[in-house]
Amino acid sequence: MKTLILFSTRDGQTREIAAYLASQLSELGVSTDVLNLNRVGAIDWSAYERVIIGASIRYGHFNPALDSFVKQYQKNLNALPSAFFSVNLVARKPEKRTPQTNNYTRKFLLRSPWRPDECVVFAGALRYPRYRWFDRLMIRLIMKMTGGETDTSKEVVYTDWQQVTEFARKIAQLNSKTPV
Ligand SMILES: Cc1cc2nc3c(=O)[nH]c(=O)nc-3n(C[C@H](O)[C@H](O)[C@H](O)COP(=O)(O)O)c2cc1C
Repeated sequence: MKTLILFSTRDGQTREIAAYLASQLSELGVSTDVLNLNRVGAIDWSAYERVIIGASIRYGHFNPALDSFVKQYQKNLNALPSAFFSVNLVARKPEKRTPQTNNYTRKFLLRSPWRPDECVVFAGALRYPRYRWFDRLMIRLIMKMTGGETDTSKEVVYTDWQQVTEFARKIAQLNSKTPV
């Protein structure tokens, strides 16, 4: 049985985190399938013993595909040991890097019919040169207001990879749920 890792990304950082998580799980003897949530077709849920979903924030929101997926598959998600990770730039500040203190994550958990067993918030990446001019302008404005990097020639990865490794350890210990 494998662990299913689904990611929703716009600029690739959540995919990188998902891939790193898979490599860490592999070292712990856990095999994974890593799939893009926005492109996933039919899922053979019987092949999986755990499921993890990771998604990033853009202008205050997760990709709408996340909510649709959770709504469609809530029974499958709730039947398996599961975990959620969110990725955003507010989380570059350690005090905004917990499910309780990260507003996007807290609100998602409050409204979601899915109850993940584990939840974690990762800081994402700031990649000015890759953004379109409008996005670059907006992100720079947000960074200026929140005391972040404003040099638009820079790419900064805030993700704490050690935190991802610790998350992998927790995932590896998530055991199957006893049917009710
Ligand atoms: C156009 C744009 C809007 C963003 N909006 C937010 C935001 O509202 N809040 C936040 O914390 N981070 C925001 N971010 C930062 C992203 O969440 C961060 O770059 C993350 O690493 C993106 O992950 P992805 O590459 O997997 O999509 C934004 C980034 C971009 C490019």
